[in-house]
Amino acid sequence: MCGIVGYVGKRDCADVLVAALSKLEYRGYDSAGIAVFVNNTIQTAKSQGRLEDLSKKMEQEGKPEGHVGIGHTRWATHGKPSDINSHPHRGGENVTIVHNGIIENYKQLKEMLIAEGRSFVSETDTEVVAQLLDYNYNGNPLETIAKTMAQVIGSFALGILFNDFPNRIYAVRRESPLIVGVGEDESFIASDVPAILKYTRQYYLLEHDEIAMLEEGSITFCNMQFRPIQKKLMTADWDMEAAEKQGYEHYMLKEIHEQPESIKRTVMPRIENGMPNLSECGITPESLRAFRNIYIVACGTAMHAGMVGKYVIEKLARVPVIVDIASEFRYRSPLIGESDLIIIISQSGETADSLAAMRLASERGAKTLAIVNAKGSSIAREADMLIYTHAGPEIAVASTKAYMVQISVMYLFAFELAYAKGKIDEAECRRLTALLLETPDRIAALLEQKEELKAMSEALVSAESLLYIGRGLDYALSMEGSLKLKEISYIHSEAYAAGELKHGTISLIDRDMPVIAVDTQPDLHKKTVSNIEEVKARGAKTLVICGESLIPSKEVADYFFAVPEIDALLMPMLAVVPLQLIAYYVSVMRGNDVDKPRNLAKSVTVE
Ligand code: AGP
Repeated sequence: MCGIVGYVGKRDCADVLVAALSKLEYRGYDSAGIAVFVNNTIQTAKSQGRLEDLSKKMEQEGKPEGHVGIGHTRWATHGKPSDINSHPHRGGENVTIVHNGIIENYKQLKEMLIAEGRSFVSETDTEVVAQLLDYNYNGNPLETIAKTMAQVIGSFALGILFNDFPNRIYAVRRESPLIVGVGEDESFIASDVPAILKYTRQYYLLEHDEIAMLEEGSITFCNMQFRPIQKKLMTADWDMEAAEKQGYEHYMLKEIHEQPESIKRTVMPRIENGMPNLSECGITPESLRAFRNIYIVACGTAMHAGMVGKYVIEKLARVPVIVDIASEFRYRSPLIGESDLIIIISQSGETADSLAAMRLASERGAKTLAIVNAKGSSIAREADMLIYTHAGPEIAVASTKAYMVQISVMYLFAFELAYAKGKIDEAECRRLTALLLETPDRIAALLEQKEELKAMSEALVSAESLLYIGRGLDYALSMEGSLKLKEISYIHSEAYAAGELKHGTISLIDRDMPVIAVDTQPDLHKKTVSNIEEVKARGAKTLVICGESLIPSKEVADYFFAVPEIDALLMPMLAVVPLQLIAYYVSVMRGNDVDKPRNLAKSVTVE
């Protein structure tokens, strides 16, 4: 997954491109580059490494001076991170491009072009598109683009410069997100809104197989048959401030602290007179009653939010819920059919596996409901029903506030479904809804105690591997706690059903294997404590995240953090916060780049 940008205007293009790319580094950051028209010829500067490495290179070797150009920040898919594999890529004498996405038939196209006498310098699929554009070039950019896109299979957003048309940018979109920003006498292309917020909040959404042409004073759109398209001008409701760190050391810490407000923005508009009301998302009690099975399909943290949803929906509404990793769902011939509902959870709304899973379910006749944070994203636009979460921009690669609002929507959905099916009465539905509305203040209070978690985190810093264990909702929480720790501290960890340890995995336990236990469910407390005692007896250092009434004795826990209690069903909303903070502190103590952990990108728009 990568970030692309482009600029047409009167400013110093290189500076604008670098500033815009800096807001897209969450999409990938193993190399970066720009290409700028300088006196009607295209000059390119690119390098492996972060954006600052590119800026240093331009300081040393000279910066392209111009007013029109394109830029790219990369998360490698084809070809390792290197100078030569970084974008932009050139095709022959006529074309320079930047690309986000994946070209599925690049090998066949490359073989054809080599047979036609073309040679390649990089390992990337992007260079194949650049060479194909050049191969098809007939002096007419739109015809060249249309012919080329007809030959390409895959997902892409492209920024294209044609040598013969200086001071003009072309952009094309198929699957991968792309917007066209509109400023005062200037225009932009970008993979995401934060890239342009410094200059404008107005933008157009480029849709599937559409072409945009930007030049001074003009932005036009057409389809692949060159039919002009009129588009609705949108206004980003984010401002730069919201997308900045606001004084926190890292975006992740800021976003953990934004969770109370994020919940309020997401939940309160969906509660009417004390009862959940999701009708604005196209969900009615009648439609809810009709569903036979519910599938929740997502990736990573979003899938973990689905796990919480499973426990809550099955407990309250008594409807079978199948939770699946999107990349597994697609290839296991799922039994999903017409009377089923699939819920796709996605912060970015662009995760390729989740989008493909939703399409597969739709082909099987299932109704699709998307729970998405990014407005106008692909998953959001293709779903039958849509619930936007309102966490605002989540910049840190490690998802926190998005997870929180995803589970808050799961609760709303579960309450409304259970009430629609007559499994809970109005009084119970009101009670649970009122408790959900209490969680923002309870989380804010919990965040005041965050310093207590630093000692617990210090005990983990030198660990090489650890287990997270829990039962029921605490097991679902353990999954999220484990992923948070792994992805930003680089310490191996695994979430394990506490009751399952004795069936093999407990052999791993020794004094070098800390165990974090989540114990917030009173009805499972005794059994969870016995599982903690099992690992303690084998030398493990034990750390317990527990409900206030479930504090373990010193014989059981070396460390514990007590979470003020709410109904056990809603404890995930509170107990996930210490798990997020432990991962954060351990990562900071290990000197890692908390917001941009190695090997990762914020949204994985490739399979
Ligand atoms: C979460 O911390 C990770 N960054 C990752 O697992 C993420 O949740 C996953 O890639 C799904 O992304 P999405 O929510 O944008 O679909």
